[in-house]
Formats: sequence, C-alpha cells, structure tokens
Amino acid sequence: MPEEKSLLRLVVTKGILGAVIAVVVFVAAKLMHFPPVFQIMFMLYVLLGTIVYILLDAPALPSFTGAKAIAALVAFYALVSGAFIAGANVLPQYDPSVEKGKIDKIVKPKLAMTEKGKVDELLKRSEELNARSQAIMKRLETIGGAEVKSIAASTGSTGGAAAAKSAGGGGDLIALGKDQYELQECYNCHKIGGKGSVKKRGPILDNIGNLMKPEELKEKLLNPRAWMAEGFDKEYAKKLMPDKYKELMADQEVDALIAYLSSLKDTSVETPKPIKK
Ligand code: HEC
Repeated sequence: MPEEKSLLRLVVTKGILGAVIAVVVFVAAKLMHFPPVFQIMFMLYVLLGTIVYILLDAPALPSFTGAKAIAALVAFYALVSGAFIAGANVLPQYDPSVEKGKIDKIVKPKLAMTEKGKVDELLKRSEELNARSQAIMKRLETIGGAEVKSIAASTGSTGGAAAAKSAGGGGDLIALGKDQYELQECYNCHKIGGKGSVKKRGPILDNIGNLMKPEELKEKLLNPRAWMAEGFDKEYAKKLMPDKYKELMADQEVDALIAYLSSLKDTSVETPKPIKK
C-alpha cells in the first residue's frame, strides 16, 4: 500500500514538472518566433518525455513467457507505431522542395520587375530629355535658320521610337496582373473562365469588373474584411480569404492584379454581389 501511495506522489510531482517545462518551452518557442505548429510540436515532445519519465517508475510487469511474450511484444509494437502514425497524420507535414518552389515563384518575378522598372525609368527620362531638347530647338528655330531645323528633325526620330515602345502599356499591365493572379494562387479558391477552385471555396470572379470599381477591388485585396461576397457569410466569418497580400505584394503588382480583375466583365457568368462591410 505505501508503495502505491509513493508511486502516485511520484506521478504527480513528475507530471507537474513536465507541465512546467512544457509551458516554458512553449513560451520560449513563441519568443523565438517559431511558427505555432512548432510551438505545439515542442510542447508535445516535452509531454512525451514526461510520460517516459513517469513510466521509469512504473512497477515491473509480471514476466511473460512463450506465446504470451510474443503477443505482448507485438501488441506493444503496434501501439507505439499506431501512436507515431496518428501523430504524424495530425501534425502538418512540410515538403521543403515545395516551399522553395513557392518562394522562387514569388521572388523571381519581383527581380524581373525591378529590372524592367529600371528600363522603364530610363526610357521615361530619355523621353523627357528629348521633349526638352525639342522645345529648345523650336525656340532656336524661330531665331535661327534651316540649319537648326535639320538637327531638330534628326533628334526627333529617336523620341518617336521611345514613345511607340511605351504605348502598349495597358495590355501589358493586364497580362502582368494575370501572372500575379497565378503567382498568388488566387485560383485555389476562385474560378475564372471555368478554371480554378474545384471545391468552391470562394466566389467565381468572371464578372467582378462590372461589380466592383478598381478602388473597391484594391480595398478587398488589401483588407478582405472590408467587403463580403453575397451568399458567402460562412466563409467570410471564417476569414477564409487570406489577409496577407498587402505584405506579400509590391504596389505595382497590386496595381497590375487590380487592372486584370477590372478587365473581367463577362456578364454571362453569375458572380456573387460584393457587400460593403
Ligand atoms: C483561401 C481561399 C481564398 C484565396 C486564396 C483568395 N480568396 Fe478571394 N475570397 C475568398 C472567399 C471565401 C471570398 C468570399 C467571402 C468574402 O468576401 O470574404 C472571397 C472574396 C473575394 C472577392 C469578392 C468577390 C465578390 O463577388 O464579392 C474578390 C474580388 C477576391 N476574393 C479576390 C481574390 C484575389 C485577387 C485573390 C488572390 C490574390 C484571392 N481572392 C485569394 C477566398 C479566397
């Protein structure tokens, strides 16, 4: 009897010790900015360790022999394997190559954009300079003679080419926006042109350009709480639409995506009505 009592006391003290360590580990992981999954995982490890620690003091089992021993061994093995498999199924699994692929997808176009941005900037500056030099030429023309005129004509041709190159901007922006739609994986929850989310997580967007103004679309993207699609009360309440795009996307990327969404004006596809919240 006294033996049982001291065993109970051991279980309680070790249990309390384990719980304290679990909380300390949980808080420490949080302070070190581990993702919540890891915080919970570390805590589970401590709890597991505590159980083993307590088991060390468990009274010895009666010794088995023969078939009984084999059955007990198999049962123990099945129990431990089951616990591990169940645990692995409950905890989310990460595939590093998938995560790396996602990061590449987001970073690469950003780099490309900055390169493209530099070229655009240079083009714009050369156009400005060209316009200014032409204005000077014009003024000189009124003062001077035909000689200045011929110089003006030769510099004018380069300005024309630059202007033509930047003219197709609108179409490009929509194409860039479509890329953003793919990169940010909006299709996981939305459908456009019959393509995308099969599980109907979020509304179809085919006619969203007619239902929301660009400012409103931008507001929804950067703050999903600002609008709710009609009939999606449950999804809205569950905050299904992620609130991460304002951190993930650069201003130009947002503008491109909004240009693309604004271009979606297919009235033949029923698109849920947006409601201001
Ligand atoms: C995890 C799922 C999910 C992802 C990813 C997602 N959304 Fe949504 N979105 C929703 C849900 C659910 C709604 C409806 C409830 C609401 O309005 O919040 C919605 C609503 C919208 C609406 C309003 C539609 C209407 O008819 O009122 C727009 C526009 C929209 N999303 C655009 C986007 C864009 C653009 C992206 C990608 C950058 C995106 N969503 C990514 C789930 C998602």
